[in-house]
Formats: sequence, C-alpha cells, structure tokens
Amino acid sequence: MKALVLSGGSGTRLRPFSYSMPKQLIPIANKPVLEHVLESIRDTGVTEVGVIVGDWGREITEVIGDGTRFGLRVTYIPQDKPLGLAHCVRLAQPFLGDDDFVMYLGDNMLPDGVTDIARQFTARRPAAQVVVAKVADPRAFGVAELDPDGRVERLVEKPQEPRSDLALIGVYFFTREIHRAVAAIKPSARGELEITDAIQWLVEDGADVAATEYAGYWKDTGRADDVLECNRRLLSTVTPLVAGEVDAASELSGLVVVEPGARVVRSRIEGPVIIGAGTVVEDSHIGPGVSLGRGCTLRATRLTDSIVLDGAAISAVPGLHGSIIGRNATVGVGVGDHRLVVGDHTRIEVAA
Ligand code: G1P
Repeated sequence: MKALVLSGGSGTRLRPFSYSMPKQLIPIANKPVLEHVLESIRDTGVTEVGVIVGDWGREITEVIGDGTRFGLRVTYIPQDKPLGLAHCVRLAQPFLGDDDFVMYLGDNMLPDGVTDIARQFTARRPAAQVVVAKVADPRAFGVAELDPDGRVERLVEKPQEPRSDLALIGVYFFTREIHRAVAAIKPSARGELEITDAIQWLVEDGADVAATEYAGYWKDTGRADDVLECNRRLLSTVTPLVAGEVDAASELSGLVVVEPGARVVRSRIEGPVIIGAGTVVEDSHIGPGVSLGRGCTLRATRLTDSIVLDGAAISAVPGLHGSIIGRNATVGVGVGDHRLVVGDHTRIEVAA
C-alpha cells in the first residue's frame, strides 16, 4: 500500500498565518501538523508517500525533505491550482499505479492513529473505505448515509440539509477502482473535483464502499480555534523532559518539556507546557496548555492555553490566553491606549 498526502490548498480560514506559511506547517505541540500526519502514516507500515503540494511546495519540501527522517520515501507531486481532492488523485495516478493507497488530508489530525482501519481495509479490500465521525454541524463536511451493516449508501459533499450526522474525516482507503471514478466525475458547484462525488460514483456503480466510525480523537485544523484545541489535546500526552536550564527560583508542575538550550528563570511553569529550544522565560507564569516555539522570549507575562511560534517575544502582558502568536511577532506594553500594528485578516480581542 502507498499513501497520498494532500498538502495543496490555500488555508484561507487560517489567515493571517497562511499568508506566510502553509497551514500544514502550523505547529501542534511544537511539531508541524504535516509531521504528525506522516508519523501516523508510517505507523500503518506504509513507506512510499506521495505529497501533493501547491504554492507552498518549496517551504514544505524544506521541512519534510525526502522523508528519511520519518522512515519514509517521499515523492512531491505539484498541483498548479487547488482543483479538488479528486483532482489530486488524478495527478497522482503515475505515482500510485495500480497499488492500493491511503489518502490523508495534510491538515487533519488523528493522533490515535489509523493502523486498525488500515488493517481492516487490507483484509477486506473494498473499492473504498471511508472514515466517518459524528459532528455537530455536518453541513461543513462530506456526509455519509450508511446501511445497518456499515456499508455506504450515499455520500453528499456539504449538503444544505444533511440526512445523517456522520462526516467524512480526512482519511480514505482506496483500491485502483477509484481511478475510474475520478476520471468520470465533473466539477462540483464550487468548481472542484470532489472525492466525495468520486466515491458516490463508485457506490452507484455497484462497488463495495465501506465506512468505519472513528473511535479516537479527530480534528480538522482548518481554523485557529481547532488548532488551539488540538494543541491542548496533544500536550496532555507529552512525556516530561527537562533538557534546558531551570533556575532554583522557578517551579515546574505537571507535564513540562524544556527543550535543549531553553532557559526558565524565576518563573512558574504549570504543565502541560512545551518550551522550545533556545527560548527564554523570565519572571513569568506559563501554562497550562502552552506551546512555545524555538527562540522565543517571554518576560513578566502570564500566558495560558496558547501557541507561540518561533522567534516571538512577549513582555509584561499580565493575562493572555487562547492566543496564537506568529513567528517573530512582538506583544508588549506601550504608553497610553492600545497601539496595534496588525496584519491582514488578523483577529484581536481586547479585554473590556
Ligand atoms: C474536505 C472534504 C470533505 C471532508 C473534509 C474533512 O473538505 O471535501 O468531504 O469532510 O475535507 O476535513 P474541505 O476541507 O475541502 O472543505
């Protein structure tokens, strides 16, 4: 079996971050989403991975490389325009050949893994096996209607009036049958070749299309709040490790990782918290639920439930929570009223 990871897409819901980096490289518990995805694929035993990349191909290649670091062989497949998930399968056909494959959306997090589902698929080999989960508002997803045996009866992409609360989540298993389907379908109303339509084509063609309801934690990290929620979830399982320096006046509690070269001075760290390599925390109270990237500086600050990306600096902010601070951004205290230098599509919430 091979894997196809979809990492094109523009990430408009993750602005302003997606203006300067691909959404697949947003760090969750200090590791890019795409690295979590590749590790999840590796755990299924797959080694050959095709990664579809769009405008951010160079940045993704720089971080992921040839995949050796993950025990994988990665082949990059460029997509000029985000024309849909089924379009990605069309583009990847020379790479996939006649092999079975798992298709994994590069911004979906399934930290509990997909190895059991991969095993089920390999044993039974339906034409397609989708993974579904109950969601509160199915209208934002592909929606599956199942028969009592778990076979797929109908799939609809983002229906206005969903007939089930089972959403397609970002992992799909296919045999080569899918290539006939992606060749046959036409673009949807949003102008994309939908994988949902391709699988529905297989259903109508009489193919065996199975579904598995996912029992673990799943998050599409498409929006800032989802990124933060997922970060909290992953931090709660980190293995504590202090490789950097913590002075005698500081206090650590709960799950705390202090990476090499990081310094904690006169501060209280309330886990779960990760402090990235080379980051300095002074006279601050950090956590719970905080990931600090590499080379950050935090002084006299109280911070909870947040992600701070590499090189950012925060000083003298007494209460900051639920925040994502971009690379090399600075947050501090000035004179008089609030003063903001804010990029496009940024979101600021000021305490009343
Ligand atoms: C895509 C699929 C949709 C699926 C979702 C999962 O939606 O088209 O069927 O439910 O991923 O995250 P998109 O993220 O393109 O809106």
